[in-house]
Amino acid sequence: MEITIRKVDKEEVWEIRHKVMWPDKAFDYIKLNDDGLGMHFGLFKESTLISVISLFISNSECQFRKFATLHQEQGKGYGSSLLDYAMKEAQNNGVKKIWCNARMNKANFYKKFGLEETNASFIKDGKQYVIMKKYM
Ligand SMILES: CC(C)(COP(=O)(O)OP(=O)(O)OC[C@H]1O[C@@H](n2cnc3c(N)ncnc32)[C@H](O)[C@@H]1OP(=O)(O)O)[C@@H](O)C(=O)NCCC(=O)NCCS
Repeated sequence: MEITIRKVDKEEVWEIRHKVMWPDKAFDYIKLNDDGLGMHFGLFKESTLISVISLFISNSECQFRKFATLHQEQGKGYGSSLLDYAMKEAQNNGVKKIWCNARMNKANFYKKFGLEETNASFIKDGKQYVIMKKYM
């Protein structure tokens, strides 16, 4: 089974974002105004895209957003490989601080990557989030 991680176009990440994160919303809900400015990465199993993540770099800070793996492929380590790759790419682009609005139920997952919870949290669309960050 060949696994490849590479940069993809914004249009390529939209379907997985929608399917995995907000299937009950209209398709356009998962598009971000800043998508044109982001760096998008995808993990492919053979030629099928199964996990996506988007980086938004400004100065030496990077926010990662809309990280999603197809349901049937979750829990197999693909997301971890993609996040590792994206964090290295961020570092290669001069990023000193990486952060995200983490769904509360993913906080422990991100801790494995060295991200720490800040005391900023919020609720959006019925989901609870905590801001997590890491200096690199
Ligand atoms: C967050 C998300 C992208 C992670 O992707 P993933 O491909 O499932 O990630 P991994 O498989 O690397 O890791 C998921 C879990 O499986 C575990 N795992 C990793 N490799 C594994 C393996 N080979 N065998 C068994 N478990 C494994 C990880 O330790 C992790 O455990 P944890 O959640 O208890 O910390 C995915 O869960 C997802 O799409 N969730 C819905 C959308 C979402 O919440 N996005 C993030 C918003 S902040």
